[in-house]
Amino acid sequence: ATSPRMREVMSSLIRHVHDFAREVQLTTDEWMAGVQLINWAGQMSNEKRNEGQLLCDVLGLESLVDHITFSAATKSTKGLTASAILGPFWRHDTPLRENGTTISFDTPSDAQVVYMHGTVADVKTGKPLPNATVEVWQASTNGLYEQQDDKQVEHNLRGVFKADAEGKYSLYCLRPTPYPIPEDGPTGKLLNLLDRHVYRPAHIHFMVVAEGYRSLVTQIFDEDCKYLANDSVFAVKDDLRVRFVPRKGDDKAELELEYNINLAPK
Ligand code: DHB
Ligand code: FE
Repeated sequence: ATSPRMREVMSSLIRHVHDFAREVQLTTDEWMAGVQLINWAGQMSNEKRNEGQLLCDVLGLESLVDHITFSAATKSTKGLTASAILGPFWRHDTPLRENGTTISFDTPSDAQVVYMHGTVADVKTGKPLPNATVEVWQASTNGLYEQQDDKQVEHNLRGVFKADAEGKYSLYCLRPTPYPIPEDGPTGKLLNLLDRHVYRPAHIHFMVVAEGYRSLVTQIFDEDCKYLANDSVFAVKDDLRVRFVPRKGDDKAELELEYNINLAPK
């Protein structure tokens, strides 16, 4: 039988979609163009290409859902590390790596290497969380995640790091660069029709998990990036801006970032 929640969600969705069609006096051709856009997104999608999610994201839907969820969470817990959307490029099978190792296996000549490190802690007590896992993923300087790019080795620029006894994680990664979301499908077509650009500001993705705590999905953004104010998928929050600083005495990295993470108990 239908659940009460299913009834609530679907009756509201239908009401608003009907209101929308009445408000703009949607024509048969416009409705059919919409159906074709959705079909195109479905036809393009596979395990490496999540076009449906991309389409939702440029309409701001994933960011709105994240905002709703995070607002509810911060009401009860101040100081929580802000969340951000997952996006379409997360993989469920990212390998575990040793702290202090790199996620970049064929560092491009135009890349700047960053030593990134920090502590995962309980937001209320400040106690570090040993055994928390910190997963990171990022695009290369050509704007592609490894699953989009045959030239990158599998799982390049991704890794899962287990916090140590002091709750600390550390790794080498690339300073992120801005890049266009894929333009060869319906999402790109729609942005073109709306005269909107396709760029995402430079960012690194995080997923942080610790037993007994609410998991965190977020992104950090380079505060020097020019697309912060108009991210094509609306994911930027002020608290998620970071500054990469020069690193001395490390021939593996020219930049450094300390990024500490606070999780809320369940
Ligand atoms: C989206 C998110 C990303 O992190 C990204 O790199 C590209 C697209 C998205 O939300 O659609
Ligand atoms: Fe991304």
